[in-house]
Amino acid sequence: MCGIFGYVGERQDAAEIVLSGLKQLEYRGYDSWGIAVREQGHVAVDKRIGKIGDATTNLPKSHMALGHTRWATHGSVTGENAHPQLDCHGRLAVVHNGIVSNEAQLRRALGRAGHRLRSQTDTELIAHLIEDLLEQIPEGPDRLVQATIAAFRRLRGLNTITVLDARRGEMVAAKSGSPLSIGFSTGGFLLASDHSALLEHTRRVSFLRDGQAVRVKSDGVRIYDMQSGHEQTPEITHIEGTAAQVTRGEHPDFMTKEILEQPELLRILADRAPAQIRDLATRIDQATDVYLVGCGSSGHAAHVAQYMFARAGRRVHYVTGSEFSYLYPFLGSRSLVIALSQSGETLDVLAAVRAAHERGASVAAITNVEGSTLWRTADFTLPLGVGPERCVLATKSITAQLALLLLTSHALMSGSELDIARGSLRRAADDIERLLGETSRREIQAIAQAMQAREHLYVLGRGANHGLALETALKIKEVSYIHAEGFAGGELKHGVMALIEPRTPCIVLAPQDETQADSLVNAMQVKARGGTLIGIAPEPQAAFDHCIRVTDVGPATLISTTIPAQLLGYELARLRGRDPDMPRNLAKGVTVR
Ligand code: AGP
Repeated sequence: MCGIFGYVGERQDAAEIVLSGLKQLEYRGYDSWGIAVREQGHVAVDKRIGKIGDATTNLPKSHMALGHTRWATHGSVTGENAHPQLDCHGRLAVVHNGIVSNEAQLRRALGRAGHRLRSQTDTELIAHLIEDLLEQIPEGPDRLVQATIAAFRRLRGLNTITVLDARRGEMVAAKSGSPLSIGFSTGGFLLASDHSALLEHTRRVSFLRDGQAVRVKSDGVRIYDMQSGHEQTPEITHIEGTAAQVTRGEHPDFMTKEILEQPELLRILADRAPAQIRDLATRIDQATDVYLVGCGSSGHAAHVAQYMFARAGRRVHYVTGSEFSYLYPFLGSRSLVIALSQSGETLDVLAAVRAAHERGASVAAITNVEGSTLWRTADFTLPLGVGPERCVLATKSITAQLALLLLTSHALMSGSELDIARGSLRRAADDIERLLGETSRREIQAIAQAMQAREHLYVLGRGANHGLALETALKIKEVSYIHAEGFAGGELKHGVMALIEPRTPCIVLAPQDETQADSLVNAMQVKARGGTLIGIAPEPQAAFDHCIRVTDVGPATLISTTIPAQLLGYELARLRGRDPDMPRNLAKGVTVR
């Protein structure tokens, strides 16, 4: 949540450099944004409410700038609450990612000490704390570092902060939570919450670790261990990828771009080297108990995968990240936690990983971001390898997660079963290509037209399709703002049915498998109450008012069955005038509780 970007160097267009960096980080929070530059010992600030869009900034030329895109936690969405936040004299500018849980006490103490607090944010308190501590520390090269570390120690909760000191001409950052990378470019240094936003400038980066602070000046970068205060050598990593990967190119938005990438990505995944897949299968085989942990769409992939592994004769426990703590007592040295996270930064998943390690369990990660906290803390990592995903909605990441889990479950069965899964995946890629084709898009647009005015929608699925029903509902609700609810088909008569009235849209996942007959019975029961049935199935059925055909391609049909919701959600968003890439109140990568 929130994006931090900073620049110190020879160039005098620091504000423009930071603005371009913030545009790439906007998926992390888009309630408001702001930039501060150093101008003759003071900071000049430009803060705005809403998305950046094509905005420019009229800040003065400077060699140093610090910026932020906000996902509001403390304090409503106002210009005053946008970051950067300043100290009393406009010398320090602070940006922040996280939540200061002892905000109230600090606010009282600073108020009593005479500080003029302008905003409702916890972040502003950090600026005043550093201002206070600078008074108490004698002049010296590390004065701002020491003041920032001392202030950081007084914060409770997981936080990443950066302060720009206009008088000293330096920036200091400290971290115990959300990610922060340092970029080493020709003639300058950069800070960014996501290293792929640095690709425009450099491939040489260092990932700041929890408990570290960094000082950035024109003449160099110094990293400190906050515990001992000792300096540490930066570990420079060469990152892959291109700046083009993080632009939407000729597509109207990232959602369209990333949806259209799926067929080719799945074909590549179908040929994924067996070693990695077999390695994970072996770890599952050797473990006494296995947990699949994820949040949101990653959680849904885990939910579906528990059925894939059951087919392979293996009991794995699906748990949503924020609920895992109740199972900690069962973790031991022979337990395996498989953590699923596109961003590799979701706080609840990282907490589960930390708890697993504390109890001697081993952790396998399936993530899309090389260098992310999950990537660096897991014992074994299976990369998704689908390139940066910028749309807040998970599309190519969930199909890739399902593909890797399907291959792994089949590898658990036998070599020939793995080949069957690969073949099925290739056929699924072909069918998805058809679903993304003009004919099918037109059919889905017509269904969206018919549904666009509806405020409630239900999705039912059985077995592995229960997880897909949850995912289908999530895609539609998070992009169109229609209240969509997914549930296990068998639960229909235990309550949901009360919500069905004439023309209530209900999507039924009815693939050609052991669940189809019962799901079609459910469809008839909804129809009997006047509901409008949208079937996602290989063939139209009597109960359906509309049918989105998904060909039966074997075990990977589960993957192609996720596509209709992506397209339906997109069309509904378009018809209802929603932003498909940055839905309201959301952000990509949930790094706070
Ligand atoms: C999905 O469309 C959402 N953006 C959200 O639910 C997401 O899947 C969730 O926040 C998990 O993110 P992660 O995979 O990066 O951990």
